[in-house]
Amino acid sequence: MSNRMWGGRFSEGPDEIMEEINASIDFDKKLYMQDIAGSMAHILMLEAKEIVGSEDAQKILHGLDTILREIEAGKFQFSRGLEDIHMNVEARLAELIGPAAGRLHTARSRNDQVATDFRLWVRDTVDVIDGQIAELMLALTEKAQEHFNQVMPGYTHLQTAQPITLGHHLLAYVEMLARDRGRFGDARKRLNQCPLGAAALAGTSFPIDRYMTAKALGFDKPMSNSLDAVSDRDFALETLSAAAITATHLSRLAEEIIIWCSSEFNFIKLSDKFTTGSSIMPQKRNPDAAELVRAKTGRINGALVSLLTVMKGLPLAYSKDMQEDKEQVFDAMETLSLSLAAMAGMIRDMEPENRYMRRSANAGYSTATDLADWLVREVGMPFREAHHVTGRAVAAAAEKKVSLDKMTLEDLQAIDSRFTDDIFNFLSAANSVKSKTSYGGTSPQNVRMAAKEWLALLNRKATKFSQEDLEDD
Ligand code: ARG
Repeated sequence: MSNRMWGGRFSEGPDEIMEEINASIDFDKKLYMQDIAGSMAHILMLEAKEIVGSEDAQKILHGLDTILREIEAGKFQFSRGLEDIHMNVEARLAELIGPAAGRLHTARSRNDQVATDFRLWVRDTVDVIDGQIAELMLALTEKAQEHFNQVMPGYTHLQTAQPITLGHHLLAYVEMLARDRGRFGDARKRLNQCPLGAAALAGTSFPIDRYMTAKALGFDKPMSNSLDAVSDRDFALETLSAAAITATHLSRLAEEIIIWCSSEFNFIKLSDKFTTGSSIMPQKRNPDAAELVRAKTGRINGALVSLLTVMKGLPLAYSKDMQEDKEQVFDAMETLSLSLAAMAGMIRDMEPENRYMRRSANAGYSTATDLADWLVREVGMPFREAHHVTGRAVAAAAEKKVSLDKMTLEDLQAIDSRFTDDIFNFLSAANSVKSKTSYGGTSPQNVRMAAKEWLALLNRKATKFSQEDLEDD
């Protein structure tokens, strides 16, 4: 049998393989809510503009409502023969209310329909993700506040560089995540225009009111160009790129968690809730959740590249290629959502091993720069020369197998006679971080202030804030 919805000029039904490659219902049924909302807005507008009579319009509305409830109750029979969510819904509508159902598709096409449904889905999902990023930011900020004073080694090249505070390290991720929210917010602003009424590609001869449907669906306005409305997926690309950047940030935090809970570092303990044991090695606590967050970034980044590749070189307007836009976006956004939830859980439960962090913060000549800075400040040495003198002090300490603060004044004066006792106020990790009071620096005082500001912002705007809000503050 040919397709019930568009089979007018076909005498034969599709080959089985054709049905298999053509049908999208297995994945686009996820759009049922958006699809029905779009149809409801459309029929109300057709009724208001007297394009469809009230009696039929009301039948259609009731029918759509019944379908929504059937799907929600798991009682709806999805059919692959009907290709996609749009035709599944419309065919069921015809079963429920008879020929009046045929009036719903006046002045629209599946092309503007799917573009509308998909925008709505992405918009709804962006709102969920935004809330989840805020949750993770809150978890990080609370940990940072608790450990504003905790010293740990800061690294460059994963080599001990200078002491920092754990609070400062965690707040670095809060900053990144705030920008991620800003990117999602920007994408949301741009995507919030309505394609509905663009019809197949050219618009329609019916006197429709696109402002009315746009408003009913919570869009800012109808899209201005009907070709653009049905043919671009930049809103999905932009959202995916925000997702890929967020996932990339999460993967870095995940990697640090994995390193930190290795027995070599022993900087943190993850809770039992986010670790697993080994079936053979009883001592193991594996950071599986962090490893999976790290790995899932690959899927999310892959989705972005996949959709970019699908869209590349497509002529205007709609091509069936664009049916391949959905699965990757669904998967990427759901994966990101899970990763954010797992990360927030790990951070909330994570316990720093203060002793080990402090010991490492003091090792590796981490305060050598403080010694050089002292020479510049107190002796008036040019920094390059101070760097050289400090290098000799480090070499002497290494020779003696002690840290810089365990050198005697005589040891240091043998290198440069201008050293005084005062230098010992600057050679511990705790004193080093205390001195980093420059704007954005790691001093506990700065960290406490930054955490306080973030908490105020996050609690005040628990639901939504954008990068602009951050800049205003
Ligand atoms: N299932 C299709 C999609 O996801 C809906 C649009 C179909 N349009 C068409 N002209 N065949 O893109």
